[in-house]
Amino acid sequence: MRLFMDTANIDEIRRGAALGVVDGVTTNPSLLAKEGVEYRDRVLEIASVVDGPISAECISTELGPLLAEARRVAAWHDSVVVKIPMGEVGLQAIKRLSAEGIRVNTTLIFSANQALLAAKAGAAYVSPFVGRLNDGGQDGLAVIRESVEIFENYDLDCEVLAASIRGARDVTECALAGSHVATLPSAVLFQMMGHPL
Ligand code: E4P
Repeated sequence: MRLFMDTANIDEIRRGAALGVVDGVTTNPSLLAKEGVEYRDRVLEIASVVDGPISAECISTELGPLLAEARRVAAWHDSVVVKIPMGEVGLQAIKRLSAEGIRVNTTLIFSANQALLAAKAGAAYVSPFVGRLNDGGQDGLAVIRESVEIFENYDLDCEVLAASIRGARDVTECALAGSHVATLPSAVLFQMMGHPL
C-alpha cells in the first residue's frame, strides 16, 4: 500500500519524506488555511520535497468555474492531481478533465456506488472518508473493501485512496482491506514507527 501524507505543513512533510516511505501528499482548503500561505506556493514547495502525486482541491460549485479552476490548478506542476468533490457537477467535471489528461482524485466518497461512478467517469483516485463514515456509525472500511473489489471485478483503472484516517490501526485495516493508497495525518505516520514495548 502506498502512503501519502495528509497535511500541508512543510516541516512535517520534510520529516516524513526523510523516512523514505512517503509516496505523495494530499491537501485540502482547511489544511491550507492552517498554514497561512498561498495554495500554489505551498504545492510547489511540497513538489520540491516529495516526488509523487500532490492532491490540490478545487472548490467551485458550478461546472464552468470548476473546470476552469481545475485546469488552472493542474497547470501548477506535473505532480498535481486535482481533487474534485463527488456529486453531479463533480462527475461531469471528472469526465471532461480526465479526457484532457488531467488526473483527478474524487474526494468526499462515502459509498462504493459513488466510487464506481467516479471510476467510470475517469478518476485516477477515489477517496473514501473512512473516519467520517465511522464517526457517523457506518463502516468506513466496508467502502474501501467494496470499492477495491468492484475495481478488480471490472478492471477499472482507478485507485482507492483511503482518507480521513484517524489512527494507526486504521492504516493496518485499510492495508488488510486492499486499499491501494492511504493518506495519513502526520501524527499517524510518525506513531506507526513506534510501540510502547
Ligand atoms: C484527504 O484527502 C481528506 O481531505 C482528508 O483525509 C479528510 O480528513 P478529515 O475527515 O479528518 O477532515
